[in-house]
Amino acid sequence: MKVYQICFSPTGGVQKAADQLSAALGAPVEKIDLTDRQLDFSSFSFDRDALAVLAVPSYGGRVPALAAARIAALRADGTPAVLLCVYGNRAFEDTLVELEDLADAAGFCPVAGVAAIAEHSIARQFASGRPDAQDCAKLREDAAQILAKLASKDNAAPALPGNRPYKPLGSGVMVPQAGDGCVRCGLCAARCPAGAIPAEDPSSTDATRCIGCMRCISVCPQGARALAPGMLERVGGMLAKVCSARREGELFL
Ligand SMILES: Cc1cc2nc3c(=O)[nH]c(=O)nc-3n(C[C@H](O)[C@H](O)[C@H](O)COP(=O)(O)O)c2cc1C
Repeated sequence: MKVYQICFSPTGGVQKAADQLSAALGAPVEKIDLTDRQLDFSSFSFDRDALAVLAVPSYGGRVPALAAARIAALRADGTPAVLLCVYGNRAFEDTLVELEDLADAAGFCPVAGVAAIAEHSIARQFASGRPDAQDCAKLREDAAQILAKLASKDNAAPALPGNRPYKPLGSGVMVPQAGDGCVRCGLCAARCPAGAIPAEDPSSTDATRCIGCMRCISVCPQGARALAPGMLERVGGMLAKVCSARREGELFL
């Protein structure tokens, strides 16, 4: 068996959780990066002898629209899939059921859902440093239970929490801006999943394309990209109540 790890991880939290889960599935792992806008996602196909790990962050309780569009382009042939949703310790709401519908439509056969917690990519004081050792141990246990389900030839759809119709998509994107420290190196433009930063003028951002994923802030070697002054404090204030108590990962079979 081969594991395809198909992951949308702008700032690395989803990647960390997906790496733990995939490695514990005990088979060679091939990674497909859904943030790479150079890839032609319609060129990927998967057969039923493989196992896919489809991993996305929760944005406002939903699958990020850009990740959804890229998953929709994939072609699977009844390939069993583990659905992994990673969130910043607030809530993941309808992310797993939306991911299940996307996986079904692309020809995957979802066999398990996993919700894991990683550092909040906007307000990094929440779930700071997660996934931690406890989270990683839980992800390895989840992998063992998923393997046991597969070994018993049980391909039943998992019972996932969430609602259809899904929660409406959030309105308004928090668009990071380049400050005076920007040396126009172009790394943010090259790495932006949405192509929202023009290579010829990396100190600007196309707000109509930006998905607010914070990749540009996390990759800038100068620390020159940030949200507008006051915005982070406002978000932190809003999230303080709902994000502070530690949530734990969950497995749905
Ligand atoms: C635009 C946006 C919306 C988010 N919405 C939620 C949310 O609704 N609930 C939550 O718990 N975390 C939310 N988060 C936090 C991310 O789900 C979490 O930090 C995730 O690990 C980010 O993945 P990454 O590090 O791979 O980019 C949001 C982050 C962003 C950038």
